[in-house]
Amino acid sequence: MPPKSISIIAGARPNFMKIAPIVRELDQHTAAITYRLVHTGQHYDREMSEVFFEEFGIPKPDHHLDVGSGSHAEQTARIMVGFERVCETDNPDIVLVVGDVNSTLACAIVAKKKGIRVAHVEAGLRSGDMGMPEEVNRVVTDSITDYFFVTEQSAVENLAREGHPEERIYFVGHVMIDNLFHQIAKLKSMDASAFAMTRLKHELGDYGVVTLHRPSNVDDEIALRGLSEVLSETAQRLPLVFSVHPRTANALRNFGIVLSDRICLTSSLPYMEFLNLWKDARLVLTDSGGLQEETTALGVPCITLRDNTERPVTVSEGTNVLAGRDPERIRAAVSRILDSGAASTELRRPRFWDGRAAQRIVAVLCEV
Ligand code: UD1
Repeated sequence: MPPKSISIIAGARPNFMKIAPIVRELDQHTAAITYRLVHTGQHYDREMSEVFFEEFGIPKPDHHLDVGSGSHAEQTARIMVGFERVCETDNPDIVLVVGDVNSTLACAIVAKKKGIRVAHVEAGLRSGDMGMPEEVNRVVTDSITDYFFVTEQSAVENLAREGHPEERIYFVGHVMIDNLFHQIAKLKSMDASAFAMTRLKHELGDYGVVTLHRPSNVDDEIALRGLSEVLSETAQRLPLVFSVHPRTANALRNFGIVLSDRICLTSSLPYMEFLNLWKDARLVLTDSGGLQEETTALGVPCITLRDNTERPVTVSEGTNVLAGRDPERIRAAVSRILDSGAASTELRRPRFWDGRAAQRIVAVLCEV
């Protein structure tokens, strides 16, 4: 039998860490599966894209759609038009999409309408908040997915409730955690002085790390001002390092928001540089999905600046606390962590977050 052909889709920053372990594993199974990599170009700045390809050793994409930024409709539409052409030339047996970004949704729709099977990695997560563009992407993508690869039990239950057949749902663990373990092992063999943030870490001693990029937190001036005030107040107790996403940088500039001088601002950091920073933080304040999971995997306390999470296992079994945007709740969560004295809480890892999710995924892909 000729090998099965798979198109792997990546477009935005959080996709790159998820495809890296899958690509590495597929390289061990070339007799059974060939793959071609498609970069949609949803993220295009070097610090949001290329840098990760280099760090993770991901091969150069076979196709680059160069779609760039735009409204949701414009961006999604450009990806669909570009990817339809790719399907016509490559004619893959399966299209594999990861996560919940616009590239995930756009390529899943194109594949399904071309009669190509869709595999979704990180399927079934639900925040229940349809105001989040990612939630729309998750629900629509899963409605046309053939093979669901899930990271936690809540996703199995969500998919079952939506009527998806049990035999198509594969509880495999989390490729993002595969990547984290791979990079942590590499980090241990590297010289810490090579990282720009190492000096700052030593100067600060104890510090917290901040990331923010959700439209609901940063596009709304009142919300961003409120969060900035709480962060500035927190920084009086614990200096903070804030890795600023381009969306957030634009918003801070446009609204003329000035943060405390105890908050050190950096542009988006490469993966290793950022890992080297947050792994030793007293706490992380974030609205990122991936970081909620990565902090749980390493036992670093995490305060999520959202009212909900599509990753409830990080709360029930991990280090994550949902604090929303309410200053009182954020203050209380920070105090609980800082007053507890421990640098990190007890380490409990969710089921199958063991660094072998990509192996399980590729084993299934070889079979179906
Ligand atoms: C996207 C994903 C989000 C993910 C996030 C990680 C969707 C709906 N959202 O949000 O789920 O958590 O990526 O970063 O797919 N920009 C740059 N350079 C870039 C990319 C973006 O400057 O390389 C700026 C542009 O001003 C752009 C804005 O950031 O308009 C937002 O980018 P976009 O891709 O629309 O969404 P993200 O907020 O990055």
